[in-house]
Amino acid sequence: MIMQKGKVKIAAVGLGNRTCKYLRYVEEHGESAELVAVVDPDPSKADWAREAFSLSSEHCFRSFDELAASGLQLDACIIGTPDLYHHELAVAAMRSGWHVLLEKPMGQTEEQCRDIVEVSAETGRIVTVCYILRYHPYFMKLNELSSDPRMGKILSIKHIERVGKDRTAHTFVRGPWNMKEMNTTVFFTKCCHDVDFVLWLTGGQVESVKSEKGTRIFTSADAPAGAADRCVRCAVEQGCPYSAVDLYLRRKDWIKGFVAQPGESQEDMILRMLDESRYGRCVYCCPENDVIDRQSVVMEMADGVKAEVVMECVTDEKDRYTVIECENAVITGDESSIEVTYKDSSVPQEKYDFQWTRGMEFHAGADHQVVKEFIDSIASGELQTRTPSSEALASHLICFRAEK
Ligand SMILES: NC(=O)c1ccc[n+]([C@@H]2O[C@H](COP(=O)([O-])OP(=O)(O)OC[C@H]3O[C@@H](n4cnc5c(N)ncnc54)[C@H](O)[C@@H]3O)[C@@H](O)[C@H]2O)c1
Repeated sequence: MIMQKGKVKIAAVGLGNRTCKYLRYVEEHGESAELVAVVDPDPSKADWAREAFSLSSEHCFRSFDELAASGLQLDACIIGTPDLYHHELAVAAMRSGWHVLLEKPMGQTEEQCRDIVEVSAETGRIVTVCYILRYHPYFMKLNELSSDPRMGKILSIKHIERVGKDRTAHTFVRGPWNMKEMNTTVFFTKCCHDVDFVLWLTGGQVESVKSEKGTRIFTSADAPAGAADRCVRCAVEQGCPYSAVDLYLRRKDWIKGFVAQPGESQEDMILRMLDESRYGRCVYCCPENDVIDRQSVVMEMADGVKAEVVMECVTDEKDRYTVIECENAVITGDESSIEVTYKDSSVPQEKYDFQWTRGMEFHAGADHQVVKEFIDSIASGELQTRTPSSEALASHLICFRAEK
């Protein structure tokens, strides 16, 4: 085993919501890792990073090319940009000699995903794909139970992702994930790690994939009478479940990505966003939005197991609900608890409480576990990862097949 001396030197590319979660770990574990450089085209993000990590201006770059040309000595790169750039940046980082912690999805086409796997093998750089369900205590318990010999073989799985109407309105209707051209499909973006989760449970070889899509409900034809193009000017906003005024101003939800201007109060920042930004628009007045709100993908495995992943966007709940039908028991989970009901009624039911993980920061620790293992693996020279690109490829390919 090669032992690498010193801290793992990291660059962060794309300083958004996700990367900042991983950087919190780096910040708290200065003994094992050091943030050396950042890349983001948004100057306000660079200002934030300069202050938060005491970086010099010379180590805050506007593009990856500038970072690559800087000659900085790095071990690894965290890539948390919009999906569109994942492939290009991951390949460039590996070719620069750096290991990569890569947000999902890896790429937007089959060729791009295969390319990442090939470049990883060719360069000997690891790519840890942020499939955080595999690092999450609740999903790990479902995996452990479903492989428990007491359950017998898995017969079928139904796994439903209830995206929730707030996330749907913010991210997939008003936000930058509302165009297929930029991000492929909502199912791919949102559920590639759900597909990975069921593949992880079954370990199965998928033989056939069937996909059924729902319709779009956020079109101008669906707008209620009296709706205006922006919620701040809308006469029927108060009764609308998708009101931006209610979401951002009254409930102060989903505002983490809004950046205040110098001297601006939070209230004024939200009012400005409602008045000027994409997030203040009526959900029925986002003409570029072309993504759907429901999809079901059914996979038939070579060993006869049938697994279905359903994405429902417009729901009050925001969780994942799973039913695993086994030979001897049925396992059900809704992220708050897991129940095991044995078919032999003389065997007592088992219940596992996971309420403690709900609303817990950083996906109940999973966000930090993925970056911890990534850093430790580089530091030790083992270069092992729970979620390598080679394994993440299968779920990506199924999503592409579902699209076809
Ligand atoms: N693993 C998960 O559970 C999970 C959850 C949510 C999102 N994601 C994925 O994480 C990624 C980032 O999502 P987010 O919510 O953090 O987005 P975000 O919009 O908050 O952040 C993206 C950042 O990238 C920057 N950026 C844009 N183009 C860039 C470029 N070419 N080079 C460098 N920086 C660039 C933007 O300025 C922004 O600061 C997405 O791919 C998304 O699909 C993963």
